[in-house]
Amino acid sequence: MSFQTQILRYTDQELASLIEDETATEALGKEADKVRRANYGNEVYVRGLIEFSNYCKNDCYYCGIRKGNRKADRYRLSFDDILSCCEEGFALGFRTFVLQGGEDPWYTDEKVCQIVSAIKERFPECAVTLSIGEKSKESYQAYFNAGAERYLLRHETAEPEHYQKLHPDSMSLENRKRCLFDLKEIGYQVGSGFMVGSPYQTAENLVSDLRFLQELQPDMIGIGPYITHQDTPFANFPSGSLTKTLRMVSILRLLFPYALIPSTTALGTIHPEGRELGLKAGGNVVMPNLSPVSVRKKYELYENKICTGEEAAQCRGCLEARVKKAGYQIVTARGDVKKH
Ligand code: SAM
Ligand code: FES
Repeated sequence: MSFQTQILRYTDQELASLIEDETATEALGKEADKVRRANYGNEVYVRGLIEFSNYCKNDCYYCGIRKGNRKADRYRLSFDDILSCCEEGFALGFRTFVLQGGEDPWYTDEKVCQIVSAIKERFPECAVTLSIGEKSKESYQAYFNAGAERYLLRHETAEPEHYQKLHPDSMSLENRKRCLFDLKEIGYQVGSGFMVGSPYQTAENLVSDLRFLQELQPDMIGIGPYITHQDTPFANFPSGSLTKTLRMVSILRLLFPYALIPSTTALGTIHPEGRELGLKAGGNVVMPNLSPVSVRKKYELYENKICTGEEAAQCRGCLEARVKKAGYQIVTARGDVKKH
């Protein structure tokens, strides 16, 4: 029986032990890489990330751009700014644009739809991904009708008690899940995920995350270590661990062979070769930053975020070299999920 088959049969207890087992990191990575190569070869997909607003009406306790952080220097990109980012990205070979921001009511549904339609009109062959938080089903439908085809919304943690420790009472896991199932029903390629090592998280919480993802069956799964930000209520909690994050990436690859799993900027922030290690552990997506350099430092979800000083072309070049060094190859296709 292959390790992949074994892991699919693991009890919650066995999964929790594996998650905590430092000695398993390397072997898990090797198994995950086999599965990833069987399904996606050595291809790594690129997504151009445009962080278009750091205003947020939410107050997630872990997040540097939470409403309550009075020190955050707020910005919004104009339609023209966003389109220029896409223009630059397109020239560099990007065929997917990810528009991410805080939950900023300034961008009404009408404005979001206008932006999405304008991008689709200008770049019909490109995929538009939104990552703008919790909305009504009607809003999600409107964005979909305007041309958005993918949506990223991490569930953050699948245990209601843990969720309430990370978020104020105005937010609920129930609504987060409702959003994810609405998005699926509408027909989006859906991405979810969580932070590894968030305050109060246990191995059992992480098992619940895996079980929830098995229920949701997302197309994309984004995980990264929790990283402390000093201007949040969690300033005194330590950041998550590199090796535990790598084990989680590998376990996800084994449980979800076809998933698009990014090797995240957060991984690259806690270790100089974090993104290379994330790819070797089973990741198959990278998301270089396309935001104008003038705003990059301001989208500070956590401390010491990397790639805040480079131009888009530099970021693209740097990641291409890193991907190659890790033994993979960047492809400039839209990179849709292969199948379930
Ligand atoms: N507002 C949108 C949302 O809620 O989905 C998108 C932006 S939100 C900042 C994107 C992701 O950043 C969150 O889902 C969270 O997992 C991650 N994040 C926020 N603060 C973080 C931190 N301190 N360390 C690591 N990741 C963090
Ligand atoms: Fe809204 Fe972080 S609290 S994006």
